[in-house]
Amino acid sequence: MRKVHSQLSIIFIGLYLVCSLVLLLTAENLLQQNMQDQLVENMKTQCQLIDESLLQYNGNSYAVVDRLAGYVGARVTLIDSVGNVILDTRVDVNETPLENHIERDEVVQALNSPDHFGNSRRYSQTLQQNLLYTAYDAPSGYIIRIAHDLDFIDDNVLKIRFILVIAATVSSLIALLSILNLSRYLTRPISHLIGMTKRIADGNYSTTPDINQRNEIGELGRSIKSMGEKLRSNIEQYERVQEVRRDFIANASHELKTPVSAIKGYVETLLDGALENKQVNRRFLERALSNVERLEIIVNDMLDLSRLESYQQSRDERYIRLEDYIRNLLEDFNRKARDKGLALNYDNKLPVDFRLLVDTYHLDKAIINLMDNAVKYTEKGSVTVHSFLEGGKCIIKVADTGRGIKKEDLGRIFERFYRVDKARSRELGGSGLGLAIVKHVMEMYKGSVSVESELDKGSTFTLKFPV
Ligand SMILES: Nc1ncnc2c1ncn2[C@@H]1O[C@H](COP(=O)(O)OP(=O)(O)O)[C@@H](O)[C@H]1O
Ligand SMILES: [Mg+2]
Repeated sequence: MRKVHSQLSIIFIGLYLVCSLVLLLTAENLLQQNMQDQLVENMKTQCQLIDESLLQYNGNSYAVVDRLAGYVGARVTLIDSVGNVILDTRVDVNETPLENHIERDEVVQALNSPDHFGNSRRYSQTLQQNLLYTAYDAPSGYIIRIAHDLDFIDDNVLKIRFILVIAATVSSLIALLSILNLSRYLTRPISHLIGMTKRIADGNYSTTPDINQRNEIGELGRSIKSMGEKLRSNIEQYERVQEVRRDFIANASHELKTPVSAIKGYVETLLDGALENKQVNRRFLERALSNVERLEIIVNDMLDLSRLESYQQSRDERYIRLEDYIRNLLEDFNRKARDKGLALNYDNKLPVDFRLLVDTYHLDKAIINLMDNAVKYTEKGSVTVHSFLEGGKCIIKVADTGRGIKKEDLGRIFERFYRVDKARSRELGGSGLGLAIVKHVMEMYKGSVSVESELDKGSTFTLKFPV
């Protein structure tokens, strides 16, 4: 893997080198220009001095020029006003006459410029070296030209370049080291974050950031941490759901198996000859039928539950007048209650025009299951329904004077297929899913179901709907 800090370092060092190079070249150029300008100024003064001497010593002036050229360490050329070279301190013009100099750059400039000076830099064919020429259109009538060799400037620039290069190299190394350190310092927190995400990927969800910075990176660490926690809670929830599913299927098959094998037993016995036996055949068929009815009850409750689970989004909610709804529903239980000699009461304390927003299919499932249990598990006394508003909730209580439920069972009766007395419940036609359905409905409506019960005294189930 390529590391951010090495990429950063490469970019920084690249920039650093480019900057150093630009700086070096600029410095060199400035230096060279400066030295050359300085030299030109000196040469101008030298020209003026030579001119002065020529005016003073008329006579053997050429010898003076020669001496002066020796002092300033330069080549001096005297040119007349039409360009003929009269004297050159490096060439004997009597032996090898020089061509006319009127076209030379520095001469042209000197003749045309207001300060009477001209200069140019070029390679001298005569002396085979780089020379800087300064020409002076002097009052003495001559054009005085001085040529200075430039090698000493180039030598100096070379020396300074050497020093600059060494300085640049050393400072580059120092910069490289500090950039490496700096970028490692900057990217270390990122490595920590990578470590965190790796730990999460390995299933260690409650990982805390090793960094506690107050910047974006610290923020990222904290949000990775909370992401890990959410992930864990989602996975735990998913596993719980899976477990509930598995249990449900196991329990359901177990519940269905009993009546199915009973039916199979009766039918086989009948086919084995009991069919001809007038004394038992009818009784066996009746028993088979009662097992089929049991199957039907269980399957219907399972269907209710799965329908509630899959259709909870598409509810057909309407405002209903709860009081009327409960009165109607109690009518349906009148006969069952009378048959068992139970009194059926309704104690309504709802405001006259109170309406509840609910899908009556769901409300039926909740209240009918509670009423059914109350009547089923009560032998004498009464079943009373209360309805009222309290603390911003609509409350429906179903209270009976039945056998009650033991404390240790209270916590479990809302589980699917849980029954306190299996045999007795089965006899009374229960699947053990009724209260699980009630609980599911109440969760759909963000309400709740709870129970209070005392053994042999009775039970009270309470539904609370948010209003
Ligand atoms: N009103 C009640 N009085 C006493 N026991 C009750 C009452 N309601 C429920 N139970 C107990 O809770 C168990 C679970 O109820 P439920 O889920 O409706 O299943 P069932 O199909 O057995 O009625 C019942 O088997 C019963 O033991
Ligand atoms: Mg029930």
